[in-house]
Amino acid sequence: MKTQVAIVGAGPAGLLLGALLHHYGVHNVIVEQRSAAYVLGRIRAGVLEQITVDLLAEAGVDARLRAEGLPHDGFEMCFGGQRHRIDLFGLTGKRVTVYGQTEVTHDLMDARTAQQQPTVYEAQDVSVHGFDGSAPRVRYRQDGQTQEIECDFIAGCDGFHGVCRASVPAAALQTFEKVYPFGWLGLLADVPPLAHELLYVNHERGFALCSMRSQTRSRYYLQCALDDDIRQWTDEAFWAELKRRLPAESAKHLVTGASLEKSIAPLRSFVTEPMRFGRLFLAGDAAHIVPPTGAKGLNLAASDVGLLSRALAEHYRGRDDGIEQYSQRALARVWKAERFSWWFTSLMHRFPENGAFGAKMQTAELDYLFGSRAAQQVVAENYVGLAL
Ligand code: APR
Ligand code: PHB
Repeated sequence: MKTQVAIVGAGPAGLLLGALLHHYGVHNVIVEQRSAAYVLGRIRAGVLEQITVDLLAEAGVDARLRAEGLPHDGFEMCFGGQRHRIDLFGLTGKRVTVYGQTEVTHDLMDARTAQQQPTVYEAQDVSVHGFDGSAPRVRYRQDGQTQEIECDFIAGCDGFHGVCRASVPAAALQTFEKVYPFGWLGLLADVPPLAHELLYVNHERGFALCSMRSQTRSRYYLQCALDDDIRQWTDEAFWAELKRRLPAESAKHLVTGASLEKSIAPLRSFVTEPMRFGRLFLAGDAAHIVPPTGAKGLNLAASDVGLLSRALAEHYRGRDDGIEQYSQRALARVWKAERFSWWFTSLMHRFPENGAFGAKMQTAELDYLFGSRAAQQVVAENYVGLAL
């Protein structure tokens, strides 16, 4: 098989890149190691920056998002029983859209099928070759046969555990990492959300987040120990702990119900530099991970592939500046989102290992934030998303 761009991975990064390249008339093939159903079964965040919404619109995959996405003009923070609203729209003139990553992935898959774009699911032993020369290839096995895709470029959209970053010689990479000493226990349930807006809570028992997927489906998180056994977190235990961490007034309104999904995720900050090696580009989680506080993961993946799709389209019109500048331009945005996600995580979680001084610093910072419009504006402009 021959194509212009071979994309490894059919998560949101790979699928959106495929959709944008198709829109620009660049032929592409996606190779994914899992089934489409498996990819759709993963529950992830659901807050879209305007840049992400605009890219989905550019790719022509925004009809359901426009009909069902929930525009949010602000969110709430709670600390020491005090609640404070961050007025995103008032402070920045911008809003975010709540629409689950599962739905984004679904819409992109449906569009790809409708446009008859080639996608290989359940590809085994995917490997990438020749990207340091002029003839890259992606190889995989399917139904016992070895298949090879000849291409001009490879896009590594294969997530944190993918094969693309791992195929780059270690000496050509620099990585930066921070692992946090706790996890997020997430629960999805078909119950109406606690409130119209998201609520982030810093409580002495740990962080809590009340989020949503729709008017009838809610997503809640609790800071938990990394070695907690998920079996001990029965639905009853989850709801009881969430109620303890919410302000009393909110806890009264919490509607509980059977969980559809429950899982513990570790929190990590991670960046690889550079994001391009010859004819191999990394995008999304393959190149960087953010802790979920602030929901930047999907938005960063989208802005990477926004830049990359334009760079590749320009290449086929005879200009290579975009390709040359891809890594530098993507990383400039990545590091700012890394900073915000790290800061928001540090502000809202409990870190007993930071001692009494650390706790006082957190209190002082929250007190300052709740009383300063300038500080709130900093939060708001990062939350709605910085310019590309
Ligand atoms: N060969 C082919 N596909 C692979 C390989 C491989 N060797 N390794 C991983 N993949 C696939 C995974 O099965 C997955 O479907 O690559 C895809 C990567 O998708 P994500 O992990 O969702 O990463 P990305 O598309 O960059 O999404 C970034 O979405 O998933 C969230 O937390 C993530 O919010 C972040 C954003
Ligand atoms: C989510 O809905 O899953 C979500 C929302 C906001 C965050 C993180 C996760 O900051």
